[in-house]
Amino acid sequence: MMIHAIKGMNDVLPGAKERFLDSAVWEKLLGTFRNVLESYGYRWMIPPVVEDTSLFSRGIGTETDVVSKEMYTFSDRGERSLTLRPEATASVVRAYIEHNLCNTDPVQRFWYFGPMFRAERPQKGRYRQFYQIGGEMFGAAHPSADAELLLLLKQVCDKLHLPNVQIKLNTLGDDASRTQYRQALLTYLVGHEATLCESCQKRLHINPLRVLDCKRENCKAIVQDAPDMLDSLTPEAAGYFAELETLLAQLGVDYSRDKHLVRGLDYYTGVIFEFTSQALGAQDAILGGGRYDKLVQELDGPSVPAIGFAAGVERLALILSQQEIQVAPTDLYLVPMAETYAQALLLADQLRPAIAVEVDVTGNKLKQQMRRADKLQARFALVLGSDEIVNGQARLKDLHAGTEQVVELSPAALISAVKG
Ligand code: HAM
Repeated sequence: MMIHAIKGMNDVLPGAKERFLDSAVWEKLLGTFRNVLESYGYRWMIPPVVEDTSLFSRGIGTETDVVSKEMYTFSDRGERSLTLRPEATASVVRAYIEHNLCNTDPVQRFWYFGPMFRAERPQKGRYRQFYQIGGEMFGAAHPSADAELLLLLKQVCDKLHLPNVQIKLNTLGDDASRTQYRQALLTYLVGHEATLCESCQKRLHINPLRVLDCKRENCKAIVQDAPDMLDSLTPEAAGYFAELETLLAQLGVDYSRDKHLVRGLDYYTGVIFEFTSQALGAQDAILGGGRYDKLVQELDGPSVPAIGFAAGVERLALILSQQEIQVAPTDLYLVPMAETYAQALLLADQLRPAIAVEVDVTGNKLKQQMRRADKLQARFALVLGSDEIVNGQARLKDLHAGTEQVVELSPAALISAVKG
């Protein structure tokens, strides 16, 4: 019986029929993020995909859906409990502590790209293996760090020409603000306990903030009139948020404050954000993140503030796949004869990377080789026989224009003829 990929786990292929799984779309996404992130001083980090389960239960929180329902956890041969990472912030923090990275430089920025695993019900924009591009910044507790990150993310969205992106911003304040808010929210929600859904009735006493995130209509209606976190902020936390808002206005970053925005991971401490796009359906969050000033310490590291984000690659690819993406064409299709394979392979090597060259290595007859050059939609083709090598000249066929010219068989002459 034929073996199929696991449900909710996709193959990303060149020219995939489902355009969001086309590797050309992913290349554009990754290249754009990477350029912007590195220009802001983020450096690449590659943490492992499997971690000790306790990293996530301690880092993300046992009460979260991600940890309590969605993790791929298994025992390895040594009966250790391991987990396929559901996200990478906890891993980056573990690596940061394990390798004493704070000793080299107190302010550090890292970016990563890779698969994450969550056992959610698959649907459009929601998969069990999905990819994130993320960034984490350590060592800055000033609102300008939050503003810089939001500016960076806005620039990526602009560079990708993503339509109708909305930035939603909220703050969870500091410890004292959160204690006060939790109480105010609990008092309000207890008054509506009977009408809340079953899960919210349970969540209410464990973490009332989770109720703000419920997608059921009944709960959403109750939450509408819930108290606002801003009213519970301490003067320091209010000052921080106000400073961030001023900076964002000065930087021209448009956002809307969403008083009900909470995030599904428990490590957040201050400013939190999500970018959404109307081009998607129910799963409209293209990226999310925020401050987690306590996580490094909670995972037994020093007290270091941090902020970060992660973007969902499939969701961004769903939007990008509606745009025309140019795949770099083959500039030159080199057609050797039986006796000229070595010369053809050497010549191609001298032409790259100035031009993209494909050598026909099928061993086929000339006619079939030329047919493949057409099928590939290569710009030019060049037949390299022993006569051409002896004469130092060959015919360069322009397959798009249907013309040909005689060119000298030197890398410089060929490159200039192909580039025009
Ligand atoms: P998150 O909000 O859980 O945050 O995930 C970030 C993004 O990953 C989401 O906005 C969404 O685009 C994408 N995503 C999440 N789950 C799925 C899924 N099942 N299928 C497809 N895409 C999905 C984090 O993971 C945090 N680590 C972000 C962060 C970094 N916060 C601070 N630093």
